Amino acid sequence: MKKSLTATVSWVGKVDWDLTHFHGDEYSTHKGSSYNSYVIEEGKTVLVDTVWKPFAKEFVDNLEAEGLLGKLDAIVAQHAESDHSGAMPELLRRRPDLPVYCTANGVKSLRGHYHQDWDFHVVKTGDELDLGNGKKLVFVEAPMLHWPDSMFSYMTGDAILFSNDAFGQHLATEKLFNDLVDQDELYDEAIKYYANILTPFSALVKAKIDFVLSLKLPLNMIATSHGVIWRDNPAQIVLKYLEWCQDYREDRVTILYDTMWEGTRALADTFARAISDASPSTTVVSHCLSKFDKNDALTDVFRSKALLLGSPTVGKGLLTAVAGTLEEIKGLRFTGKKAAAFGTYGWSGESVGIIGSALKAAGFDVVDDGFKALWNPDDEALKAAYEYGKAFAAKVT
Ligand code: FEO
Repeated sequence: MKKSLTATVSWVGKVDWDLTHFHGDEYSTHKGSSYNSYVIEEGKTVLVDTVWKPFAKEFVDNLEAEGLLGKLDAIVAQHAESDHSGAMPELLRRRPDLPVYCTANGVKSLRGHYHQDWDFHVVKTGDELDLGNGKKLVFVEAPMLHWPDSMFSYMTGDAILFSNDAFGQHLATEKLFNDLVDQDELYDEAIKYYANILTPFSALVKAKIDFVLSLKLPLNMIATSHGVIWRDNPAQIVLKYLEWCQDYREDRVTILYDTMWEGTRALADTFARAISDASPSTTVVSHCLSKFDKNDALTDVFRSKALLLGSPTVGKGLLTAVAGTLEEIKGLRFTGKKAAAFGTYGWSGESVGIIGSALKAAGFDVVDDGFKALWNPDDEALKAAYEYGKAFAAKVT
């Protein structure tokens, strides 16, 4: 139900404790999520975003129970993805007179999803919605953060930036604000969200943050559409985004692989030991992709300066867990990272070449031809793997 951000701004969203996957099955949400919707009650009563469709009736019923449904003067639809627009059909069925403020791309997306001709009011950067009481919402188009239709809305007076997906986290909590939750959990979910959703749009993130900062607006809160609201030092997440959007890397190496009969795993374990021995300051993590969470693995890639990706050759190709992860890596368009491939084989041995070419095409600086071992690696092959791991550590410093 309704929770206050300020005297006139409230959260009216939905905490989804049971969500285990988001974007279909593409993004693991170990900590659930929330769909944050806000209501502004000034001279006008304005709703900012809604919730996902399964919670549509509950959401609109809650607005009615709070005495808000009949009071609303407008809805601002900052983003048409269904986790934020999913309750619009139910809301507008019960309040068909409500004007909908969104971008031109928002009209296309909302029509594409719901096939309705609502009372759309197209806005662009700098346009304003008068809220009464001397306050207004100023709109800032934010294409590709996260879809072409996305926009931010800045509320003057209360100095709240409604940022929709940007600065969000998939974190279910009854605590509304960033200072009230476990800080490590919050950081982990914020960086996972950036790594898995926003990485391909990093250049646009940088440009949009630079633009918003150039306006030199006061900022009391960043009210995101997922997770907590940043009220304690809201600039901290903006500064983190500025780090993350510019070839982000830590002194970290990630090894990802899958294995059929433990041969490729033996190589991965040997590389982990060799890199740690050669570069004690480097954090090395190694994950078997058929057993480890894919999105957590991709977060490790995002944090790393280098990736070793391995698969045995099977049917002249790769194990499917590795092939699927490569597809995600291609789409995420990581920048500023080095990489190499490895794997065992019995006869034809294509996997290392396939992985190396795919990593290169995905924008990685592939430092060498990778490491292959015939059949199950013997002591001699493991010694060679150890030397390869040490050499790789030197190449990626
Ligand atoms: Fe949270 Fe792009 O939707």
